[in-house]
Amino acid sequence: MITNAPRGTKDILPEQITGWNYIEDEVRKICAAYGYEEIRTPIFEHTELFQRGIGETTDVVSKEMYTFTDRGNRSITLRPENTASAVRAYLQNKLYAAGNLVKLFYIGSMFRYDRPQAGRLREFHQFGVEALGEKNPAVDAEIILLAWNFLKNLGLDELELKINTVGCPACRPVYRQKLIHYFSEYHDELCGDCKSRLEKNPLRILDCKVDADKDFMDDAPKIETCLCDECREHFARVQELLTAAGVEFKIDSRLVRGLDYYTKTAFEIQYTPLGAQSALAGGGRYDGLVEEIGGAPTPGIGFAAGIERILIALEKQNLIPAAQKNLDAFIVTAGREAEVCGFKLLNNLRKKNIAATMDFASRSMKAQMKQAAKSGAKFALIIGEDEVNENAVTVKNLETSAQNKISIDEVAAMVMRNA
Ligand code: HAM
Repeated sequence: MITNAPRGTKDILPEQITGWNYIEDEVRKICAAYGYEEIRTPIFEHTELFQRGIGETTDVVSKEMYTFTDRGNRSITLRPENTASAVRAYLQNKLYAAGNLVKLFYIGSMFRYDRPQAGRLREFHQFGVEALGEKNPAVDAEIILLAWNFLKNLGLDELELKINTVGCPACRPVYRQKLIHYFSEYHDELCGDCKSRLEKNPLRILDCKVDADKDFMDDAPKIETCLCDECREHFARVQELLTAAGVEFKIDSRLVRGLDYYTKTAFEIQYTPLGAQSALAGGGRYDGLVEEIGGAPTPGIGFAAGIERILIALEKQNLIPAAQKNLDAFIVTAGREAEVCGFKLLNNLRKKNIAATMDFASRSMKAQMKQAAKSGAKFALIIGEDEVNENAVTVKNLETSAQNKISIDEVAAMVMRNA
């Protein structure tokens, strides 16, 4: 048992790390281009932050949180997402004080007690961005473009951008009532979860996977019939800006998202070949969240993308760059004295940031040369009895097989010239 990691978690092995580093490098590049700065928040927070921020009736809060009481009798939760924490950090550290739009990004692990399957884990990783302090729909468009261009730059095809608006506290209650009225007629046909959503969170019925294909879904009232002028204009402007940027999108009136903090714009980017777990990224505006968490009313918008899902998509299209073997030198020694010389050389090379290694198992010269060839190193640095006496090293270029003897003091410079 103790040799198995908990269900829904995964080790990221050395052979897989290239893909992770590749994505993280691309995240940092695009965030620098769009002016977003990195933030790292704690893995755990007070449970109340998520209850208040995400909403008690959401699946995430009601069913999926890793919550425990710590030894000081506090209720603590492993973060199921990072938006609430980013907003908490924004308030606690007074990031608003500069008076500008605050643009943050994060990369890290999140925890949800979900049913594990391909692309759905209990510990998973997100990259996300949050922009706090501006209600202009241009920020919505910027955030959507960042998500879209990030995935496009990775080379993914078959991406679909879906957008919607979920209204605001002025117009959503009207829509809510309309939905309750409509779905009540079909009460008996609703799945168990939707029966309880009917009173608590009727918008979520619209994106229920179980009820998705039932006939009554098609005729459910659409939010556009209820939007207030501000929400209508906001949504129209987001579309205008996305069109101006040349990005194709679909309006999906059933896209309502699973977290309660959303207002106005909601969006998702799906990679259709992934089927049930096709959402690579999702987000939206949350103009009430900062106030909910205890700050002054402050608009915000952001999204998060699932790194494991992006990796599955990249693998499908063979887009993960090959691992770079970047060993510069493999030191081969014969005999105890040579091993001391080799060990000293190894240390000197590493001090200069030259990637070097040597055999510690006292294998034969032949076996060590084989190892050197397999290691991908550029040079084998050979030290036998003669070399010890001459304070020299025989350098074999493992790509060309050319070989020559040089003074041990010149080795580092030679490797660096040729690295
Ligand atoms: P979310 O839609 O819950 O939004 O998650 C965003 C993305 O995280 C999903 O589209 C998916 O790629 C990935 N994801 C979610 N759950 C799992 C899981 N169990 N296993 C693997 N991947 C998963 C949020 O988390 C919001 N905080 C996004 C946001 C930021 N909205 C505004 N700002």
